[in-house]
Amino acid sequence: MAQRTLSIVKPDAVRKGFTGAILAEIDRGGFGIVAIKKLSISKEQAEGFYAVHKERPFFDGLTTFMSSGPLVLLVLEKDNAIADLRKLMGATNPANAEEGTIRKRFAGSIQENAVHGSDAEDTAAFEIGYWFAGYELI
Ligand code: CMP
Repeated sequence: MAQRTLSIVKPDAVRKGFTGAILAEIDRGGFGIVAIKKLSISKEQAEGFYAVHKERPFFDGLTTFMSSGPLVLLVLEKDNAIADLRKLMGATNPANAEEGTIRKRFAGSIQENAVHGSDAEDTAAFEIGYWFAGYELI
């Protein structure tokens, strides 16, 4: 059954002009785009999104980075979307990402790693609802 996941083209990738190439990879991966928007977020909005990481040492740097410039938010849909997007993205640290993955090609570091994808059904539901209203998801 079709499943939805939340993805982000992060500020590093947008700044470097990789948005179109990353969207092409997502398209080639067979994902449908349910919703898409480009915006700049505040540090507070980033802190709410990444609240699960608030005790981590990288939390301040991560939320500063995510609020450093425009990003692109996507709701994607396909069978097995959550796991398939994580496979397409590659490992969190691009140094460990497989050849041909988005992070191997476009990410610069473990923090500035080009893309985000939800890691489970419950986090996908939270993350989609955090950035998109119901009327945007028809
Ligand atoms: P993301 O998939 O968006 O989920 C949490 C983010 O935290 C992750 O991608 C990275 O951008 C960042 N992150 C995870 N681990 C580290 C780390 N050790 N140092 C810095 N940033 C990290």
